Amino acid sequence: MPAVVEIENLTKDYEVGFWRKRKVRALDGLSLKVEGGEIFGFLGANGAGKTTTLKLLMRLIYPTTGGARILGRDIGDVRMHARIGYLPENPYFYDYLTAREFLNYCAQLFGYDASERKRRTEDLLTRVHLDEKSWNKQLRKFSKGMLQRVGLAQALVNDPEIIFLDEPMSGLDPVGRRQVRDLIASQRERGTTVFMCSHILSDIEVLCDRVAIMRRGRLAETGLLEELRERAGDKHRIEIIVAGVGAEEISQKLSALEGASSEPTAGGARIEVASERDVDAALLALRQAGGRLVSVQPVKQSLEELFVRESEAEKGEQGKR
Ligand SMILES: Nc1ncnc2c1ncn2[C@@H]1O[C@H](COP(=O)(O)OP(=O)(O)OP(=O)(O)O)[C@@H](O)[C@H]1O
Ligand SMILES: [Mg+2]
Repeated sequence: MPAVVEIENLTKDYEVGFWRKRKVRALDGLSLKVEGGEIFGFLGANGAGKTTTLKLLMRLIYPTTGGARILGRDIGDVRMHARIGYLPENPYFYDYLTAREFLNYCAQLFGYDASERKRRTEDLLTRVHLDEKSWNKQLRKFSKGMLQRVGLAQALVNDPEIIFLDEPMSGLDPVGRRQVRDLIASQRERGTTVFMCSHILSDIEVLCDRVAIMRRGRLAETGLLEELRERAGDKHRIEIIVAGVGAEEISQKLSALEGASSEPTAGGARIEVASERDVDAALLALRQAGGRLVSVQPVKQSLEELFVRESEAEKGEQGKR
């Protein structure tokens, strides 16, 4: 399948200051591909250039240099924009329209007739779990989380082939986050490609196939989540939780195993070995010590750890300037 989003050397300078003489490079030579049907996570600390990238792709602002194609079309192609959906970072809607009126209006922009507009409006408001009692309320009376749901609904009104979501979980409570997470996952089942920015790393970990990490306007890392973890030094260590035996005792028995460590837990010990091969030796030692096995599992370096490390590297770089 050809790439659905192809970004090539995209660069954006904002002109700032009274005479707009000073330039701030928000995005610096970004090249990236997103394949059809995947959920792509776009990560980065505050100010890393995520929203700038999305605005460039949506043609809300213009690149300084470079370009991009979505669904094989140049980002300047208006017809292509009818086939995509976009949830802005801070959606701002017509305050005096009700949720129902607003979605009906959005559907009208795509030329659907009255009965189709009604069907789509009701289907979407249900899918984003907006309480039916609020459908006829003016948007100015909506909470942040409710507006976020309306924003998601409008992004899906045209059954887009790809949706761009800028912080889709922002302002949502834990239940809302879960619902939106399920909604995004269900888009994948429909074959929709998803390009999402989020700060909530656990959501990215659950949802995304591939991620890119931005650092100060530049692409720092990209790849499958698994690959990133490995590149970050995830060395396939294995954790073994045991009971009925002290950490001291087991660590003596494991002293011959290179890279093994153990620490006490409430009911026994937590052992970490360097590779799968060492698990057998550790289990043998456990049996000899008369302990019980509770669990054996690979130690996964969470995305958060990777992300924090990236941000710290960034601070280090700033310090050197
Ligand atoms: N309109 C603008 N004029 C001048 N500078 C801007 C403008 N918009 C963004 N910037 C700058 O560009 C950089 C990138 O901002 P951007 O909003 O793309 O970051 P982000 O990754 O979306 O951050 P966040 O996680 O906070 O949403 C920042 O340094 C920001 O100050
Ligand atoms: Mg942003």
